[in-house]
Amino acid sequence: MDLRSRYLGLELASPLVASASPLTADIETLKRLEQAGAAAVVLPSLFEEQIEHDSVDLHDTLELGAHSFGEALTYFPEMDDYNTGPGRYVEHVAAAKQALSIPVIASINGVTPGGWVRYAELLQEAGADAIELNVYAVETDAYASAASVEDRTLRLVSRVRGAVTVPLAVKVGPYYTAFANVAQRLADARADGLVLFNRFLQPDIDLETLSVKPELHLSSRDELRLPLRWIAILTGRVPISLAATSGAQTADDVVKLVLAGADAVMIASELLRRGPDLLTELTTGVSGWLEEREYASLEQAKGSMSQAACGNAQAFERAQYVRTLVEYQSAGARGQAR
Ligand SMILES: Cc1cc2nc3c(=O)[nH]c(=O)nc-3n(C[C@H](O)[C@H](O)[C@H](O)COP(=O)(O)O)c2cc1C
Repeated sequence: MDLRSRYLGLELASPLVASASPLTADIETLKRLEQAGAAAVVLPSLFEEQIEHDSVDLHDTLELGAHSFGEALTYFPEMDDYNTGPGRYVEHVAAAKQALSIPVIASINGVTPGGWVRYAELLQEAGADAIELNVYAVETDAYASAASVEDRTLRLVSRVRGAVTVPLAVKVGPYYTAFANVAQRLADARADGLVLFNRFLQPDIDLETLSVKPELHLSSRDELRLPLRWIAILTGRVPISLAATSGAQTADDVVKLVLAGADAVMIASELLRRGPDLLTELTTGVSGWLEEREYASLEQAKGSMSQAACGNAQAFERAQYVRTLVEYQSAGARGQAR
């Protein structure tokens, strides 16, 4: 089965991409991911705070005694075990490129359009086939309006876009009031792709120690629905590549996302649980599904269940919503509610 998919203008052998995670921090594991069927890999992020921290360190060494750490930096953990720091990160990109023949996507993670953006250029020079810019932020300033937050993100994207010529994807969270408009404006700012969606870590409170517990739970399959819906909404409407991230575990999940219109399906949690061989199973499963239904290629199936064919997406969404509530109530009356 021809599973080829174009993502960010890159020709991928299939839509299966290993998402940014500790698995992609190690060259041997990257090779295993490629052998098992990863069509591209996203390296773990290099964080704005790390880059700023590095230059503050340098500044402190040059100007002994002058301390100018921003408040945020004092919260920032020692990161070198995760992605080795800015200098070695650039080396990791070069090493990954040398070890692999599939596209290598480097990831930078930040929110403000600062001097750190020049790292995108260094990653391109190191051989990155594309840059993924992760704009992970929880806005806590009660005076920062949605418009100002969106404008800041667009300025950041424009800065990174201006710094590199390789394709640029933007990984965003789902909490926008008018996400279709944000997607369109990111396309207008010449982002080549969107990665939907960032998972926000929801900290808990430890009642014994009365401290905040940041907890990372691997994703569950239910989380697939949010990217599935938004990819179905945006496909054919906003001229931009679309990658799904969050909750994909099985071949059926991959097929659903492709039918909605996904050009790439990124996987982290299930790869962490089951290891690279998962990708072989998914490749076989997706091929089998397409063959059984007599598709000639994955491209032929892509987007066939998107909302573009339905004239009024808003009416469609409302209709689905009302229908679901009504059907639940009827099932409840018959004692079948779940
Ligand atoms: C342990 C771990 C580390 C991650 N590190 C990064 C990272 O450095 N940069 C990034 O953009 N996403 C990172 N992610 C998010 C994943 O790339 C992915 O988007 C998210 O986990 C949802 O996909 P999944 O449901 O397949 O896990 C990380 C996820 C996990 C579980």
